[in-house]
Amino acid sequence: MYDDIDILKNIELNCEPPAEEPARQYYFIGKCVEYVNELRGRIGRKPSFFIQTFGCQMNFHDSEKIIAILEQIGFVEADSEKADFVLYNTCTVRENANERVYGRLGQLKRIKKNNPEMIIGICGCMMQEEHVIEKIRRSYRFVDIVFGTHNIFKFAELLYARLKSGEQIIDIWKESDLIVEELPVDRKYDFKCGVNIMYGCNNFCSYCIVPYVRGRERSRKPDDIIREIKRLVDDGVIEIMLLGQNVNSYGKNLDKALTFAGLLKEIEKIDGLKRIRFMTSHPKDLSDELIEVMAASKKICRHIHLPLQSGSSRILKSMNRRYTKEQYLELVYKIKKAMPDISITTDLIVGFPGETDEDVDETIDVVKKVGYDSAFTFQYSKRTGTPAAKMENQVPQETVTRNFDRLLKTVQEVAAERTARFEGETMPVLVEDVDSHEEGMLTGRLGNNTVVHFEGGRDLIGSIVDVKLDECRGFYYIGSMV
Ligand code: SAH
Ligand code: SF4
Ligand code: F3S
Repeated sequence: MYDDIDILKNIELNCEPPAEEPARQYYFIGKCVEYVNELRGRIGRKPSFFIQTFGCQMNFHDSEKIIAILEQIGFVEADSEKADFVLYNTCTVRENANERVYGRLGQLKRIKKNNPEMIIGICGCMMQEEHVIEKIRRSYRFVDIVFGTHNIFKFAELLYARLKSGEQIIDIWKESDLIVEELPVDRKYDFKCGVNIMYGCNNFCSYCIVPYVRGRERSRKPDDIIREIKRLVDDGVIEIMLLGQNVNSYGKNLDKALTFAGLLKEIEKIDGLKRIRFMTSHPKDLSDELIEVMAASKKICRHIHLPLQSGSSRILKSMNRRYTKEQYLELVYKIKKAMPDISITTDLIVGFPGETDEDVDETIDVVKKVGYDSAFTFQYSKRTGTPAAKMENQVPQETVTRNFDRLLKTVQEVAAERTARFEGETMPVLVEDVDSHEEGMLTGRLGNNTVVHFEGGRDLIGSIVDVKLDECRGFYYIGSMV
């Protein structure tokens, strides 16, 4: 990140905007500041913003970028939609996520009636779908700013365009090679932060919309990533989460090839950084080199999120996952041999077209054999535009519900047993927050990502302390500091 204050001071606002990025965006941030100062005089307070984020870590990190820009412009964060600027950062991976957004937009319309100066924005993955944009143009005229996943960096420019024109601004890019570095990022926590290492996805799993809404795979340059992490660490961050839809294929499109394992080795060298996490690993690309680097590392957390989706090789083929049940299990055995204490978590889908009870039995078999620490279990959702949406033999809902319930039951049993394996041990916990349910309690995470609640003062937030894991309650621990 630039030293933002200096940058803003040095930007000449009385001329044409610069053509190059990120200087252009700092120019528009400056322009928006002028507007906000004027608005502040008029309403007698700082204007407020509220952002609701749906979906995955990528979206949450994108929201952190937008929040940083809004704060520089002079907005303050509000805790509800009764704000001067409201933005929904959307996810479209499953149908119910879309429905929720439309429902909430309806409510916003009513709030806006009482505050005509209110600005409503909507962005994220849903906006990359043409039918969504058509619907917004047609039925949601009160939405002021609409943008997609490729042009988040342009947020200040779009906001300024809306402020100046009063018109609905819709700016969606179909695809982009552009990676704009050095824009501000706000951090929800002082001590941990997400870092994008790549964007997009090339895998085209047959059920998945992500490659269509996030575009082709693009890796950030290692130097840019390292520089960002060093700055974060200088600023007090001790844990980073490297983000990408398939981190194991990092580096394939770089001029000077570097593997994900190679990148991790470089990041490990950064002094002051204590914990390194990453998400997500596609099983087909997880290399022996990565297992070696992880096993030798003092900083990489002992946790791999390794989405299985299905345990049936026949369904996996139809999903275009490019591994079989046997290959997946072999990979897990290799990982566990190198790191016996590792936690493995996963994503599972029930009800993919053509799935039978026997296929679900195979999934249940893998769940038992792997012993996941936790698993996200989803019902298949038909996404228009994906190959699976056109497949015949979509599974009837009652079959999906029945199989979902029995898979979930197994997942919960296996995860509870597996999570409890450290009961009685003392392990380092990164303290994240006060426990919202119980006064005097803190909440933090083990290296393997399991949540621990224990007694302590809020001054410990952001530090790593040793905690005895007294009692496992399903998917979390109650502990005591030693
Ligand atoms: N890149 C990650 C996953 C990103 S999407 C990976 O490949 O592992 C997160 C999860 O949503 C997926 O792992 C999958 O389990 C689920 N998902 C994606 N598309 C879905 C669909 N059409 N229906 C139900 N679940 C879906
Ligand atoms: Fe979707 Fe597959 Fe890409 Fe993950 S790897 S984002 S599931 S297409
Ligand atoms: Fe959803 Fe987009 Fe993530 S569709 S899962 S927010 S990449």
